[in-house]
Amino acid sequence: MELRKALFNIASLSDLGGEITSEKDFQEKLKSFLHVVLGTFLASSGAIACRDRPDGRIVFAERKGFEKLAPQEIDLSPLLAAAKNEPYRPDGGSSLRAEGAEAVVPLWVKDDFIGFILLGAKFTAEPYTPEDFEMLVVFARQIAIALKNHALFLDLTEKLEENRKLYEEMRRIYHDTLQAFAAAIDAKDVYTRHHSQRVARYSVAIARELGWSEHDIEGIYVAGFLHDVGKLVISNELLNKRTPFTPEEIEEVRRHSLVSYKIISQIRFPWKDIEKIIRHHHERLDGTGYPDALKSEDLSEGVKILALADSFDAMTSQRAYREKMDVQKALDELKNCLHRQFDDRVLLAFCRVLDKEIRGELPEPDILPHLDRESDLSVISSLLQGLIRELSDNDADG
Ligand SMILES: [Fe+2]
Repeated sequence: MELRKALFNIASLSDLGGEITSEKDFQEKLKSFLHVVLGTFLASSGAIACRDRPDGRIVFAERKGFEKLAPQEIDLSPLLAAAKNEPYRPDGGSSLRAEGAEAVVPLWVKDDFIGFILLGAKFTAEPYTPEDFEMLVVFARQIAIALKNHALFLDLTEKLEENRKLYEEMRRIYHDTLQAFAAAIDAKDVYTRHHSQRVARYSVAIARELGWSEHDIEGIYVAGFLHDVGKLVISNELLNKRTPFTPEEIEEVRRHSLVSYKIISQIRFPWKDIEKIIRHHHERLDGTGYPDALKSEDLSEGVKILALADSFDAMTSQRAYREKMDVQKALDELKNCLHRQFDDRVLLAFCRVLDKEIRGELPEPDILPHLDRESDLSVISSLLQGLIRELSDNDADG
């Protein structure tokens, strides 16, 4: 091969390399591949054929000329019989020759037949030389790999999409199961319908306001749903008793957080300490809670969030033994119990998120939809503003 020709071929190859690695979309790339090949061999027409997904039919991915040639009608046997990537001139009687193909290059990657390249006559009307064929092999290898990569990429994208759908489906079933479980817990007590669900939503709102990761938020959501699972072992009569509890009955009801813990510890959740959050949801910062009488420093932020969410919902819901509180009164109560029962950062986050929800700053409110419809939102809002100011000052001081 003369030097000038060799340099030209190398330049063409480098063009092809540039096209393969470019960020163009694949159809654009194919157009460029064909353009480079036609230019290199001074061919008047050409086509790149490949297997279509998903049925493997041969289709023209790109062509210039060869419009009358139906790819499905091409006899592939000479292509498959040719040594891998070995270009050849089609037989005189073949449909390929009849349509003007002067060179055919099968495209293989290992044992995979990817497709082929067709080239029409040269502008110069000279036949393809053995050097041309040698060079075509080099081009073919590159193009075959690019086609194969693209097919793999499409397969992968499809599988990812399938996986994503499966994952979504699993999540949906998981959430439905949680809901069903929570409904079973809440059904024990006629006054606590949807309590677990609300506690879950409130906890999520606070955790998000505190900057928790989506993974950890999912964990506190599940903890909210399941925190009272231990109530399943307490008798309905006791849970729905309208007169004050005896000390023994109080002990019996209090057992539920420990039972919840025992049940939840049996399950391997993908979140750290979910069982501890559940065990300690009735602990208080001053150490007067149960079951372990832990103090603030021993309680995680998750526990403090769940405790506040649980108490706020308990206060604003009607119970067998008392009327529900209005939201203003419940907020006062949370404030009064600050440091003894509730954590100031958690209360601040709760106030901030509820305030944002009232102002319509959050597209999917978690707390607001569950509040009493009679509530005067402007009064609540100004109460929240005051609390936020007060708590932020404390935060800045502390
Ligand atoms: Fe509880």
